[in-house]
Amino acid sequence: MRRGSILGLLGIGIVAGGIATAVAVLIPWLPEDASRERGRIDFVFWFTIGICIMIFAIVVAVLVYSILNFRAKPDDNTDGPPIHGHTGLEIIWTIIPTILVTAIGIVSAIVLAKNDAQGKDVFRVNVTAQQFAWSFSYPEAHNLTSGTLRLPLGRSIELSFRALDVIHSFWVPQFGQKQDTVPGLHTQLHITPDKLGTFPVICTELCGLGHATMRTTAIVMTPAAFDKWLKGQTKATTSPNASVSGAAVFKNQPCGSCHTLTAAGATGKIGPDLDKLPQWAAQAKQPLQQFIHTSIVDPNAYVQPGFPKNVMPPFSSLPKAQLDALVQYLIQSSKKG
Ligand code: CUA
Repeated sequence: MRRGSILGLLGIGIVAGGIATAVAVLIPWLPEDASRERGRIDFVFWFTIGICIMIFAIVVAVLVYSILNFRAKPDDNTDGPPIHGHTGLEIIWTIIPTILVTAIGIVSAIVLAKNDAQGKDVFRVNVTAQQFAWSFSYPEAHNLTSGTLRLPLGRSIELSFRALDVIHSFWVPQFGQKQDTVPGLHTQLHITPDKLGTFPVICTELCGLGHATMRTTAIVMTPAAFDKWLKGQTKATTSPNASVSGAAVFKNQPCGSCHTLTAAGATGKIGPDLDKLPQWAAQAKQPLQQFIHTSIVDPNAYVQPGFPKNVMPPFSSLPKAQLDALVQYLIQSSKKG
């Protein structure tokens, strides 16, 4: 091969590789990286992209060089020379991709194993998925339940999933990993948040009417702020002051994602408007307190006309003190509203 040809190929390859690298690096394709696991996933991503850019540059170099140098003359209608293949070339273009794909496979397997592994000093959170809300409970804090996922920075978190009705899928793009929640199966996910901030928690499995609304937030806090929050919440939900803790229960449970309640700033539209509870109770010919209580623990006993059945899940596992506080809170708030 002439020296000029090699330089030509090299030049075209460098230009093509440079353009592809600029497109890969300058455009922010990926969401912010906020966990150690996401960092490893990004490494696999960039490792693969690097290989792709290299192959892209080689293919473009050969293609452009051939188009420029081996064009048929405008008046040349003869057949090209017969080619019987090239065993050496075929061996090379089989071996190189084999090595590259195997390398991607090995790197991915290492990352998967590391991301699945439980770290030291694990903090456990139980995650319940149901149509159409997430709830998180903390076994280390008397099973305190919250509608937002709060996590301490830098701890290895073990999320244990339970689905009450259908298959859902837990995803925080910034944490990188997805996990299906399957009724009857106990699934888990390990996450080590390494950036403070608020990130969306998204359900990525079409799970019914309210699938698109099955969202909440994950808040990564400093360990000190997290401990303070955990202690404060544990105190608030066991406080005898019903109106205060009722508001906290409403906020910690996913009520607001489906219902409107002005007192709580909730604007959900999937279920009946809770500002009008006295009116709905009268329509159902039930005393207000009994109506609210039953609607929470056995929502399908009476379904508001105009709303579909079997959409609201029963919240019968709420501790009695929290349930009573919530009922009192709803009575007071709806009478004001
Ligand atoms: Cu749960 Cu989509």
